[in-house]
Amino acid sequence: MIFGAAVEAAITEGKGKIMGNHNAKAALVDSLNALLADCFALYIKTKNFHWHVGGPQFRDLHLLFDEQAAEIFALTDLIAERVRKNGAATLTSIGAIAGKSRIKDEDDADLSAAAMIAQLKADNETLIAALRETKAAAGAAGDNATDGVIDDWTDQAEQRVWFLGQLLK
Ligand SMILES: [Fe+2]
Repeated sequence: MIFGAAVEAAITEGKGKIMGNHNAKAALVDSLNALLADCFALYIKTKNFHWHVGGPQFRDLHLLFDEQAAEIFALTDLIAERVRKNGAATLTSIGAIAGKSRIKDEDDADLSAAAMIAQLKADNETLIAALRETKAAAGAAGDNATDGVIDDWTDQAEQRVWFLGQLLK
């Protein structure tokens, strides 16, 4: 009977691990989808500022915002495909993006250049925090590929924050 109890305990532990892993995967794909929504929102906001920026630094900022927007947009496909490789569904529409994004819309087309830079800097800092959260979720779910690739995405976001911050000095 002791043997039977040990087997039962092992089965319970195994079930617990499977459930724990299932929950960790669900948390990871949620986190990746939220990150994907943030990237789409930040992409469109950075493009919006590329289109609407004005002032004496117009050319530099117009070009910088375009470069940063392209970098952010390139992340979207990589993030979505990490969700698919984890066997889950990713975002399907503008509505799904709006429902999950933590980046706030900015619809004022007459914002000053300095306000645009400050807002993009803060949003990229929000993105860095989101990336850190997703990396932790990837670690918990044992998704080494996501865990590893996020370091590069974080470095890119830190570079954007650095460039934007230098403009505010
Ligand atoms: Fe353009």
